[in-house]
Amino acid sequence: MLVATEKIWHNGRLIAWDDAKIHVLSHVVSYGSSVFEGVRCYEQERGLAMFRAHDHARRLLDSAKIYRIDVPYTIEQLTAAMAELVRENKLGACYIRPIVLRGYGGMGVMPSDNPIEVYMACFPWGRYLGEEGLSEGVDVCVSSWNRIAPNTLPALSKAGANYMNSQLIRMEAAINGYAEGIALDEAGYVSEGSGENVFVVRDEKILTPPLGTSVLPGITRDSAMKIADQLGIPVVETIIPRELLYIADEVFFTGTAAEVTPVRSVDRIQVGNGRRGPITAKIQQRFFEILKGSAKDEFGWLTPVVQAPEPVGV
Ligand SMILES: Cc1ncc(COP(=O)(O)O)c(C=O)c1O
Repeated sequence: MLVATEKIWHNGRLIAWDDAKIHVLSHVVSYGSSVFEGVRCYEQERGLAMFRAHDHARRLLDSAKIYRIDVPYTIEQLTAAMAELVRENKLGACYIRPIVLRGYGGMGVMPSDNPIEVYMACFPWGRYLGEEGLSEGVDVCVSSWNRIAPNTLPALSKAGANYMNSQLIRMEAAINGYAEGIALDEAGYVSEGSGENVFVVRDEKILTPPLGTSVLPGITRDSAMKIADQLGIPVVETIIPRELLYIADEVFFTGTAAEVTPVRSVDRIQVGNGRRGPITAKIQQRFFEILKGSAKDEFGWLTPVVQAPEPVGV
């Protein structure tokens, strides 16, 4: 159950949580015209820090641009707004959800007099695929639903409408007793989970489907690739046949919600030895060290929200 916090950011000002309402005839309700983001904010010794907030703000603007939605804020303004929101809500570790939508005005498919509304909410949110999933791995299936095909709904845009497809994948997986489903693309190759990018490890090499296989350009995906590169583990973006999932040494998911989660079985076929593999463990470890602040933020991924005061006498 969602825990309400005090304030929500709307078009440049903070409003009460309960006042963040839209009309039922808003364009977004009938036609799915929204783009959004999910950003995590972590607690570190020196205070709270948002993970790759700038990159999330950039992807939000990219997502909007694809749909000809003009967002009247810059990346810097959006990032500052996220920080202000978290500060004002006096939260600890939390999740930030910026949403851009076409609002109430004209009634046809063609957006005409529909204003662009920008909202941001933040709230506490725990482990998406469970605490145990992070260490033990999760059981997943290949979905009977394909991922959205190219030239239908553009996958590089994180649009609300894409998540109708994600819902089908996720609900089917849950009903059949799996933690998540992996969708294939239109050609039948591995695409992504309903809310995660997919990585496969085989012979000490990491493979992940390229952009163009209907995947979201995941920010955690990019982080995992940069970490792997730094650790000297080769990463290749390549087409992945479904059956490679079954014979992989390791499979893992990345995502803001899922973070870095090992997959221990696909379609009830055990992956590797059925436990978190050594390469997944290395990437996960470095990822969490950066998030917790125990490893240096060499990539400049963290934006402080509230700076703890310097200790007296230093
Ligand atoms: C469909 C889909 N793929 C991949 C991801 C992972 O992207 P990111 O790491 O930017 O959260 C998400 C989550 O946002 C998603 O919804």
